[in-house]
Order: sequence, then C-alpha cells, then structure tokens
Amino acid sequence: MRPAIRQKYVVGNWKMYTNAAEARRLAKAVVDGMNMEERVSVTLCPPFPYLALVGEIIEGSRVALGAQNLYPEKEGAFTGEVSPTMLLDLGCKYVILGHSERRHKLGESDAFINQKVKVALAAGLDVILCVGETLEQRKTNQTEALLDRQLTLGLADVPADSLMGLSIAYEPVWAIGNLEHHATPQQAQDAHAVIRHRFGEMFGEKSAQTISVQYGGSVKPDNAGALFCRDGVDGALIGGASLHADQFLAIVRAAISMSQTQENTADTAA
Ligand code: PGA
Repeated sequence: MRPAIRQKYVVGNWKMYTNAAEARRLAKAVVDGMNMEERVSVTLCPPFPYLALVGEIIEGSRVALGAQNLYPEKEGAFTGEVSPTMLLDLGCKYVILGHSERRHKLGESDAFINQKVKVALAAGLDVILCVGETLEQRKTNQTEALLDRQLTLGLADVPADSLMGLSIAYEPVWAIGNLEHHATPQQAQDAHAVIRHRFGEMFGEKSAQTISVQYGGSVKPDNAGALFCRDGVDGALIGGASLHADQFLAIVRAAISMSQTQENTADTAA
C-alpha cells in the first residue's frame, strides 16, 4: 500500500519585525526564488500592517499569505483587534494561533485559543495551532502531559469536518530563537509522535495520519534537512531565518527535496 504523503509546509513568521520597505523586499525575494513550486506549501506571515502590501506582491504566485493572530469575533467594539473576516478580506489563507509568545508573554489561555481556533476555522481560514513545552516542563518530564493538555483544550469541540483546515506546529518554547538549546531531530520526531497519537485519540486514526505537524524552533538551513527527513515532521514554522530570503529559500529547498525523496519511496513501495 502507498504510505500517506502529507502536505509539507514552510511558514515564515516575521513576528514584530520588518518595516514596509523590508517587507516588500523580502516578499519579492521569496516569490522570485520560489518560481511555481507546488510540492511544498509556502506561507508568509508578516505583521498586520504589512499584510496588504505583501498580499499584493505574492498575488499570482504560489506563496500564500498568513496572519500571526486574530480576535475571535466577526466585528465589534474590540479596540485594536483584527477579525477573521478582515484577514480573509486581505487575502489571508492561514492564521497562526496559540504561538508560545502569545501564550507566555501575552497570557493567552488554552480556552481563549480554542475560541480563536473554532472561529477561524468556521470563517474559512486555515489554522496553524502551535503547541510546545517550556524548558522547565521538559526537564521535569511534563512534555507529554503538556502537549496532551494543549491539544485537548485547544481543539475542544472543533468539528471533524473542519480538520482539513488545520495543521499543528510543535514549537518547544526553549528552542525558539535560541542558539544554545536546539531540539534534536529525535526530540522533534518523538514529540510529533505524541501529538499525532493524541490527535488520533481525539479525531480518529485516519485524521491522525493526514494532519500535518510542522516543527518550529531555530530552524536554519543547516538543520532543516535533518529535521525534515524524520518521520512525522511535515515542514517548519520559521521565525529568525524567515527574515533572510536566502535562508528561508534554502529551507524551502530542503523541504522540496525531502518531499521528492518521500514521493519516490512511496512509488517504490506501491
Ligand atoms: P525561531 O522562531 O525560528 O526564531 O526560533 C520560531 C517561531 O517562533 O515560530
């Protein structure tokens, strides 16, 4: 039987970096470097103020637009917030939710993230739900319980028919923007297996086999290949390296080459 081939993702999370000129330059460089590559789904998530200008640059290309957050209401008196409808209006296909910086620096709870996930999916946005443990939690062997909790609460009451619009990003908090602590490919593979297992318990084995799980946390051109060839690692969510077009494109190329290898292996096994 042909093994399941899942969609590979490479997503650039620009966080609160760039200005208009840099955003324009970066988006253009990524589009030019991508050509019409179809194997890997590439998404740029600029800060809110630059969504429109990046959207114009990537129009007609294979690069998709994503937002870094949203507020879970269609409209209303929510000063400073941005709704899913507004993001769709700007051409966003994706939204990152539950990023550890929003959990830990802005105090977002699992319940609030769950509200966002449901509203985003119902609106027609594709959700990248981030989960991941702190260093303390890893050191005290709480990684599995934490991933279990974040998935259970974050995906509570998500309708099964909206799962097509969902992917998970495993982002160990201790590996994000960190030169000293990197997750090894084995640590990533193990955590992805935990996530897939829990996802299967919640939504069934078939959904567990089709859900894409990306890894995030100091992914660079020199470690991307080793991560992508691990079982169950379906791409990457990239912060720092996504601010450099050459690095980001090198990671995209690593994902493309891994995807080619997997297709060849699957054809041989079929
Ligand atoms: P990093 O960020 O690649 O800079 O570690 C990843 C993220 O926070 O999504």
